Amino acid sequence: MELEEIKTTLKKASDLKVGSKKVYLESYGCAMNFSDSEIVASILAQEGYSTTNDANEADVVFLNTCSIRDKAEQTVRNRLQHFNSVKRKANPDMIVGVLGCMAERLKSDLLEEEKLVDIVAGPDAYRSLPDLIGEVETGQKAVNVLLSREETYGDISPVKLGENGVSSFISIMRGCDNMCSFCVVPFTRGRERSRDAQTIVEEARQLYAMGYREVTLLGQNVDSYRWNMTKKGEIKDPNLPSVTFAMLLEMVAEVSPELRIRFSTSHPKDMTDDVLYAIAKHKNICNYIHLPVQSGSSAMLERMNRGYTREWYMDRIAAINRIIPDCGISTDIISGFCEETEEEHQQTLSLISEVQFDFAYMYKYSERPKTLAERKFEDDVPEEVKSKRLAEIIALQREGSLIRNKRFVGKTCEVLVEGPSKKNKSEWYGRISENSVVIFPYTNQLPGQYINVKITGCTSATLKGELE
Ligand code: SAH
Ligand code: SF4
Ligand code: F3S
Repeated sequence: MELEEIKTTLKKASDLKVGSKKVYLESYGCAMNFSDSEIVASILAQEGYSTTNDANEADVVFLNTCSIRDKAEQTVRNRLQHFNSVKRKANPDMIVGVLGCMAERLKSDLLEEEKLVDIVAGPDAYRSLPDLIGEVETGQKAVNVLLSREETYGDISPVKLGENGVSSFISIMRGCDNMCSFCVVPFTRGRERSRDAQTIVEEARQLYAMGYREVTLLGQNVDSYRWNMTKKGEIKDPNLPSVTFAMLLEMVAEVSPELRIRFSTSHPKDMTDDVLYAIAKHKNICNYIHLPVQSGSSAMLERMNRGYTREWYMDRIAAINRIIPDCGISTDIISGFCEETEEEHQQTLSLISEVQFDFAYMYKYSERPKTLAERKFEDDVPEEVKSKRLAEIIALQREGSLIRNKRFVGKTCEVLVEGPSKKNKSEWYGRISENSVVIFPYTNQLPGQYINVKITGCTSATLKGELE
């Protein structure tokens, strides 16, 4: 799952200690970054900071950044320009920091490139933020981009900054060891490490007690989650079974039958049937899997270093459909990766038709510095061809989403209510287990309630329904 380019201005959290110092946080990129901003807010709350949604009154502004595509970095650079003018006109003492993947990728070069930046802190350096702010207050610039093999922030109880109070993210692991040839994440987030399972279950319990009714377990490759380690990363006892992702899912599902569990992202090469059986066994583990395919061509998947073929992927789809009938399935697709032929592109289109995804995130390939692809292949698909292929993928997928949504029309589905719809306040929205959004008329339901909705119609993007 990806929240690319969605800017989230974090609101004041009611449980923050109200201190005299204020921090303004913005998150870009994936859900992991959003969740990390909650860790940052928690670390700074211990130093007496509260959050503000007004940069003009902030003592510190942090942008939690993404490097996945060039466009994501451009968005952040434009935002920095904006803060340059806020600083000049309204708030000259404001400290500006860049956190996250772009900070890790560019390191201290960022201080040269963006003169107004005072702090650069990578994803494993957030515990040092109070010290880094201290350094800036003595007139220096401050950088910490050390990556760690151990840091999981497992003991930090994140300050919840989301708006709806119904669904929340829980990070279960950090980093990635996969080295897909197009991807910058292994360079920006470092080695893969799993978080202590008990702290994950405890966080889910706390969230349930606070009124949350849905948690999404986050990792770059949740299927390789494995916990049987000491803090130093040594295996505690090789004779003890480790907690696998399937086991973790069941542990979190047992917090309460009223707590929905989602997760992201599954990796086709590692997703086991155990995980599928765990989903089938527990009603509160949602019938929804995000399984990025990237391409429908085995030769292309080899160049992408994804570790599976088209046939393997189709076998995983068959397993999902066998074990969890009618499961919601979504994917990620990249168009115009290095050396992509028209035939390879056609294979991606044919895979989309064959699988019938409920939803897809679709991107044009953007070359990233230092990746395997940058070193090994030429980014040789012309921009117009990338765009044309992407448009074909999007159009075909839209038809697929409509077909998939139609399967719910006439059925009654359980919906977890999230809140008023953005377009029309007399209508509310929520999600069904399969992750599709349902719009229904407001009567007197509350966010966090489960209601039965009869689906009366749909578009490719949403379902419409009436209360039963
Ligand atoms: N760990 C997840 C996703 C991480 S990034 C996974 O393995 O699926 C989210 C998505 O961004 C990827 O699935 C991929 O489709 C896309 N992406 C990653 N690098 C990209 C690049 N250089 N250009 C275009 N899209 C990219
Ligand atoms: Fe990137 Fe591949 Fe890791 Fe996903 S699994 S984060 S695409 S390297
Ligand atoms: Fe996420 Fe972007 Fe980093 S997708 S892991 S914030 S590069």
